[in-house]
Amino acid sequence: MSELLLKNARIVDPARNIDEIGDIAVADGVIVEAASLKSPEVIDLTGKVLSPGFIDVHVHLRQPGNTTAETIASGTAAAAAGGFTSIVAMPNTNPSADTAGAIEYLRRIADEQGMVKVLPCGNMTKGGKGEEMAGIGSLKNAGVVALSDDGKCIQDHGLMRHVVEYAKSFNLPILDHCEETTLASGGVMNEGKWSVLLGMNGIPGASEELIIARNIIFARQINWKIHMQHVSTKDSVDMLRRARAKGVPVTGEATPHHLSLTDECVKKFDTNYKMNPPLRSEEDRQALIQGIADGTITVIATDHAPHTQTAKLVEFDHAPFGIIGLETALPVCFTQLVVPGIITIPQLISKFTTGPADVLGLENYSLSIGNPADITVFDPEAKYTVDKNTFRSKARNTPFDGMKVQGRINLTVVDGKIVFREGC
Ligand code: DOR
Ligand code: ZN
Repeated sequence: MSELLLKNARIVDPARNIDEIGDIAVADGVIVEAASLKSPEVIDLTGKVLSPGFIDVHVHLRQPGNTTAETIASGTAAAAAGGFTSIVAMPNTNPSADTAGAIEYLRRIADEQGMVKVLPCGNMTKGGKGEEMAGIGSLKNAGVVALSDDGKCIQDHGLMRHVVEYAKSFNLPILDHCEETTLASGGVMNEGKWSVLLGMNGIPGASEELIIARNIIFARQINWKIHMQHVSTKDSVDMLRRARAKGVPVTGEATPHHLSLTDECVKKFDTNYKMNPPLRSEEDRQALIQGIADGTITVIATDHAPHTQTAKLVEFDHAPFGIIGLETALPVCFTQLVVPGIITIPQLISKFTTGPADVLGLENYSLSIGNPADITVFDPEAKYTVDKNTFRSKARNTPFDGMKVQGRINLTVVDGKIVFREGC
């Protein structure tokens, strides 16, 4: 029987509105009363913040198909180092996660080699091609927690409407990558002043906004949950805010990179600033921050998208979209949002815990007695410089290398087991 006593931490538990100094006790994988412990391992967490384990609803693990970029083992090790105890694995692997067999494969490898909980996401359409619906019932039986064609977006609105109806009948939230392709295709960065100056093909904000509008219409008419992945523009935030005020069951996520960087970064021609949706204007970035602060955006998700150095070391136009993010999410967001006083520590933690739990329909995601002991601890005062060579991820495609940050993950506990520990 393994026991842990995490002492003197600032316990922040957004689901129960708790923010107080105290102790958390763990035995046999669950949270227990401290008095019931017999001979626990004691860790003093004075000055540290302790919360329910972080959840990332948007992670690419690349296995099967591109294990030189990342594997389930390395991606979940990166998640543990980033304070994430559960991650939702996007289905755009090779083969795609569009069958029960593919989901069973993911679950088996994750069981054997995963450092954190891997929640499988199945495709909405076969191969994520947007042409024919996947077998949603068998994906549900195989254990998917959500549906997505991330990386791509269903262009056929009739098919999308049908998918939303099926998703509802199987009680599966949709996580949608919102991109209208006649506007986006050929683009490599945000359409705006910088794409003109740099002479690059642009991806207009309208490409995202058209699909957000469509999804809001379907979510309202069908009364089903649609979560907008990596929201990147001001008009998207405005539409989401209005729809949520009317009670439409839509949610949205922002990534640490869209909250901290803009399209001006592309002038360095560094492919670690290339992702989809692209970095937008400063006005868009400010609107995302406003959306985070006023509760329009309830989730921060990384869109951890590993690519090999060889794939990324090419001209900007030719590089694949995507950057990694699991090991920089907390420090980047803490530095950008909490240090300047835009949001509080409990608000930030809610974007990594109750916000994503709500998208997935996980109830009582908290440190209540009897719950699984999934716990994240970080030091809100620690200042350091991001060094990509320390990452557990196999990939190095980050724009944050060398950035000075504040806020450092110290401890990650999954089902009572320490999966990451540094500095405590
Ligand atoms: O930048 C991105 N990379 N955006 C996506 O939607 C997909 C992802 C990937 O799979 O590399
Ligand atoms: Zn995407």
